[in-house]
Amino acid sequence: MRRSSDLQPEIADESAWWRDAVFYQVYVRSFADSNGDGVGDLDGIRSRLGYLELLGVDALWLTPFFTSPMADHGYDVADPRDVDPLFGDLAAFDRLVAEAHEHNLKVTIDLVPNHTSDRHQWFQAALRAGPGSVERDRYVFRDGGGFDGSVPPNNWPSQFGGPAWTRVPDGQWYLHLFAPEQPDLNWDNHEVSADLARTLRFWLDRGVDGFRIDVAHGMAKPYGLPNIDPRTEIGAGVMHDNSVDPRFDNDGVHEVHRMIRKVIDEYPGRMAVGEVWVKDDERFAKYVRPDELHLGFNFRLVEASFDADSVRAAIEHSLGAVRGLDTPPTWTLSNHDVTRHVTRYGGGAVGAQRARAMTLVELALPGVVYLYNGEELGLPDVELPDWALQDPIWLRSRHTLRGRDGCRVPLPWEGDTPPFGFSQAPTTWLPQPNEWAGLTAESQLEDPESMLSFYRHALELRKSHSAFNGDDLEWYGAPPGCFAFRRKGGGLICALNTSGGPVPLPPGEVLLASGPMDGNQLPSDTAVWLA
Ligand code: NOJ
Repeated sequence: MRRSSDLQPEIADESAWWRDAVFYQVYVRSFADSNGDGVGDLDGIRSRLGYLELLGVDALWLTPFFTSPMADHGYDVADPRDVDPLFGDLAAFDRLVAEAHEHNLKVTIDLVPNHTSDRHQWFQAALRAGPGSVERDRYVFRDGGGFDGSVPPNNWPSQFGGPAWTRVPDGQWYLHLFAPEQPDLNWDNHEVSADLARTLRFWLDRGVDGFRIDVAHGMAKPYGLPNIDPRTEIGAGVMHDNSVDPRFDNDGVHEVHRMIRKVIDEYPGRMAVGEVWVKDDERFAKYVRPDELHLGFNFRLVEASFDADSVRAAIEHSLGAVRGLDTPPTWTLSNHDVTRHVTRYGGGAVGAQRARAMTLVELALPGVVYLYNGEELGLPDVELPDWALQDPIWLRSRHTLRGRDGCRVPLPWEGDTPPFGFSQAPTTWLPQPNEWAGLTAESQLEDPESMLSFYRHALELRKSHSAFNGDDLEWYGAPPGCFAFRRKGGGLICALNTSGGPVPLPPGEVLLASGPMDGNQLPSDTAVWLA
């Protein structure tokens, strides 16, 4: 949130605080553990609010901390209106919100409307009640095919591997786009939407500033649940062409978002961002229409390789998707579902150098930035041993896909050996590597050259310098493997060099560089801000 003297009229509206905010994603299990069980929790987050304020972020996004058997580490919710004892209780949540607000940090939380846990009382009741019951109608139960009903109702795969259907003892099947412990809700059932409205109000009344909507492109299912055409290539990963995949991005989903928006509009100054893995720009734009979500996560930067052309294309798509709409673009390099960007860009010193460069690019762009906890420390993914892996993807893929645990290892705070001040317990839910001794927050705070100091400096400039004003940017001509753009309002220039050799620096006063400059040359794997 920029200082008022630099504000443009539309940003000066305090209720739209999120329009240029830097959010910090707290993966609750891995941030800070207050009670010595080796798992992060709400009081742990509270104990580190000073750090977050010092870092210079504006808002937090907390991953699910609700009652859950943790089959998908909290994305399987058994009670959306209570805190799992592993993470604390409602009183701990209230303390966290109050203290975060004292530190000028907004608090946003995850919502999981596509599915519940199989331990949710609704699903348990559905199992007991049997075929054709009102209890089953809250989920997606169907009879199977074949002579004895043993063939799943359609050919949909689960995102975590294996079929998207599981058979229950009375012979029916239920749909789960993710793990079998995450049955999909039936969004044609009015009780389902009424319950989500109740959950929204429950947390809004407790003072949350907004929500991140899980699988925001998933809730509506197409009429008749048609098969995926076996001749079509769905494509790898979650950001694929949804027009050939009937599981996601069905038009009915927009009614759900209109309902969510209506409830949030009763509470001025609150917002919602959707997890929208939708590739087509026009289809993406539908999620952020004026009566739907305030923001949509655009994952183009996550998908781009470290190459100026590919990064520029990602930026142009992300800007283009929201052009003409009254919503800013969003920028993300890492989150709890993808390989950390230090590792994606090559790992080691090169990966870290490129990560710094991309951080400057991301923070130079107009709009909203989402940081993932630990990226400010330059954490790479951890290559965990087989015995440590816990992601359901590892199990469901029959140990062929290692899953997302590598980016979820608990943060190193201080000291020379694990658990690095994360916990009082000697072991943590995922083991930390000894090499992280050099990456602790403590060791980086006083080092002006550290990744942490670099993030603090960049965030401070982004917040306070008028060069960052304005919503539009223009591209300059640049040598192959490079780009340079200028923020039209404030005049900030950001140049990136991925060419493999040095290139002449554009004219201007250097505000911040991601690495050492070479006279008037911009070295490769480096970005610079000029004013
Ligand atoms: C997206 C979340 O980010 C991911 O972690 C989770 O496994 C799935 N949705 C299912 O809820």
